[in-house]
Amino acid sequence: MSQPIEKATGIVPGKDIEKQREYSTLVAELVSMRYSEKPKAFVHTYGCQGNVADGERIEGMLVSMGYELISDVDQADLILFNTCAIREHAEDRLYGNVGALKVLKKSKPGLKIVLCGCMMQQKHAAEKIKKSYPFVDIVFGTHALYRFPEMLYINLSSGKKVFDITDEPGKIAEDLPIHRDSKFKAWLPIMYGCNNFCSYCVVPYVRGRERSRAPQVIIDEMKELVKQGYKDITLLGQNVNSYGKGTDYNFSRLLKELNSIEGDFLIRFMTSHPKDCTFELLDTMSQCDKVAGHLHLPFQSGNNRVLKEMNRGYTREKYLELLEYAYKVMPDLSVTADVIVGFPGETYEEFLDTVSLVRQAGFTSMYTFIYSSRPGTKAAEMPDPVSRDEKGKWFSELLKVQEDVADKRTSAMVGRTFRVLCESVNKNGLIEGRTQGNIIIEFPADENLIGSFANVKVTESLIWILKGELQ
Ligand code: SAH
Ligand code: SF4
Ligand code: F3S
Repeated sequence: MSQPIEKATGIVPGKDIEKQREYSTLVAELVSMRYSEKPKAFVHTYGCQGNVADGERIEGMLVSMGYELISDVDQADLILFNTCAIREHAEDRLYGNVGALKVLKKSKPGLKIVLCGCMMQQKHAAEKIKKSYPFVDIVFGTHALYRFPEMLYINLSSGKKVFDITDEPGKIAEDLPIHRDSKFKAWLPIMYGCNNFCSYCVVPYVRGRERSRAPQVIIDEMKELVKQGYKDITLLGQNVNSYGKGTDYNFSRLLKELNSIEGDFLIRFMTSHPKDCTFELLDTMSQCDKVAGHLHLPFQSGNNRVLKEMNRGYTREKYLELLEYAYKVMPDLSVTADVIVGFPGETYEEFLDTVSLVRQAGFTSMYTFIYSSRPGTKAAEMPDPVSRDEKGKWFSELLKVQEDVADKRTSAMVGRTFRVLCESVNKNGLIEGRTQGNIIIEFPADENLIGSFANVKVTESLIWILKGELQ
């Protein structure tokens, strides 16, 4: 018999969280004596929504410690970068942005610079920061996030630099304060970490093993969000389909329970992994009226040899079979995906299998990445003979095909009416919102609609964005 989900994963003990609350109070007292007004904190998060959700917890902790959050980096007393390591480009950008702070720190010696997140969980990156950027005050990895108040207290009270990148199996820290960036869209992590070890990917190394939050904790958080007026709530995990794996609970059951919460709101989730995506889940999606008709299902490659080398655990045929079933039970479903171009050893012919899959799949949009070698991963050891330039050409070829596919899909929406969550006023002075399928639509309407649902008729399609009118 599989074990009950509540017993499946390690939770950071309540007394450890309580200890951090005490440090938080100590910091608040210290800064209230040191600064004449509330000290200002600038927080920037790189990377995926999971990291954004962590960033909202960091911001929550900063607010509890007496800081005011600001968006002008030059005014800050504390600057925190919550980093990402997914591709080399993400890391290069971070080094550039940290380097640029050197001058600011010189002119403002009391300024605190904090780096955390996935990139800092890697020893080589933390070492480089220590050596080449000595003006950085605090560095911590993903597992130490909940200990931020303690680290900040040590640094503020002693002036000592703090590095905490211990490699832990990864636990779940509950009951951290959260400062949400939006009043109507929310991120709700349901699990952390990843066990899949796709051969190109750094995530399992920097986020630890897969662990699911208890269903009741998620249900309670969702109820609270709905009560506070949140309309669009995204369940997060690297592979949400494996929620509760090895226990008596699964993701479909969680979706059903969340769907039965009273209120007018949308449930989204990401990311789904084709290896663990089942017909049962697709049926559940189609039966749950609050679950958005949107499935983000990265396929990475359309070629079976490449998929095997990537260690993805499914074939092109299995992927297309899932899509076929998904469209059968949800004809209006919007499918989006991620794909990698130029995996080590991929040939042009193999790449053409990706192109043909894209033609077949009917994605509304796709995130296309050129392969980036990540130290420590299996793929980083594989021969990679194709030049960056050549991969760039393949990349452009694929984008053109997807543009064509997306154009067909969005053009077919013209004349139909969709329920849209109004999100902001754009630079054209129009309200910008998203359909359930996560397609952006702009239309003239009053600003006070922001944060609520409206029925909008599509009048024109500009491939990636729709134009419409309020019904
Ligand atoms: N857990 C998700 C993806 C998380 S990372 C999943 O399995 O689908 C987001 C995307 O970044 C991946 O889907 C992949 O397309 C891309 N990616 C990850 N590692 C990469 C690398 N080394 N080079 C290029 N793209 C990468
Ligand atoms: Fe990375 Fe694969 Fe895990 Fe996604 S499932 S985070 S691509 S290892
Ligand atoms: Fe980046 Fe970490 Fe997310 S590596 S993509 S921030 S899990």
